[in-house]
Amino acid sequence: MAWDTAAEAPYDFTNGWFEGNARPFWEQLIPGLQITSALEIGSYEGASACFLVDRIAAHAPLTLHCVDTWAGGIEHQGDGSATADMDAVEERFHRNIQRAIRRAAHPVDLRIHKGRSDACLSELLAIGGRGSLDFIYVDGSHQAPDVLCDAVLAFRLLKVGGHLVFDDYLWSERLPAGQDPIRCPKPAIDAFTTLYCRKLQILEAPLWQIYVRKTAD
Ligand SMILES: C[S@@+](CC[C@H](N)C(=O)[O-])C[C@H]1O[C@@H](n2cnc3c(N)ncnc32)[C@H](O)[C@@H]1O
Repeated sequence: MAWDTAAEAPYDFTNGWFEGNARPFWEQLIPGLQITSALEIGSYEGASACFLVDRIAAHAPLTLHCVDTWAGGIEHQGDGSATADMDAVEERFHRNIQRAIRRAAHPVDLRIHKGRSDACLSELLAIGGRGSLDFIYVDGSHQAPDVLCDAVLAFRLLKVGGHLVFDDYLWSERLPAGQDPIRCPKPAIDAFTTLYCRKLQILEAPLWQIYVRKTAD
């Protein structure tokens, strides 16, 4: 199915994840924020990245980091719930994001990091990226140990006053034996927000997503 995020945007998306879980809240949140630099972990076909370009680069220049292995998570592999041809997904990402950038009124400095988020975010920290980003979206691996690592590295890359958004708070695999408490994001997001409770504020938790502001380093 071709899924256009908005009537005016001829993007090629094959799912409605962003539409269903994120768009209604992002439409309220993003216009009120001062964002000149953003990073997302998990770009897939570019739905969230195209939204950021559409909304932010309409008003000001934007640096956007897109981090993805384009190998898929466990849900995209084998007989997972969202099995996909990841080469085709990656091609759609490039086409969609270039479309968004061409349409934008202001320049977009797009930095694509193809690799695992732990390595890519560590590298950004190593080259001086600490405290440099206004907005980070965590929507990559859904395995609790990976999500915890993404959250901690993202926190370090974020400016004080910056915003961190987690997707899929309540996602879990449909396994024959029920839910595996480690193969889902929730325990990691709960652990992170608990351990960093003196350095962040939870703004909203409209379940599937959690919105957090960094208040201290
Ligand atoms: C749910 S999709 C992202 C959806 C996207 N944000 C959107 O709005 O359409 C998750 C993506 O995370 C990527 N991913 C999974 N594990 C990863 C990891 N450890 N590092 C980087 N990317 C990863 C997958 O390849 C997949 O494209």
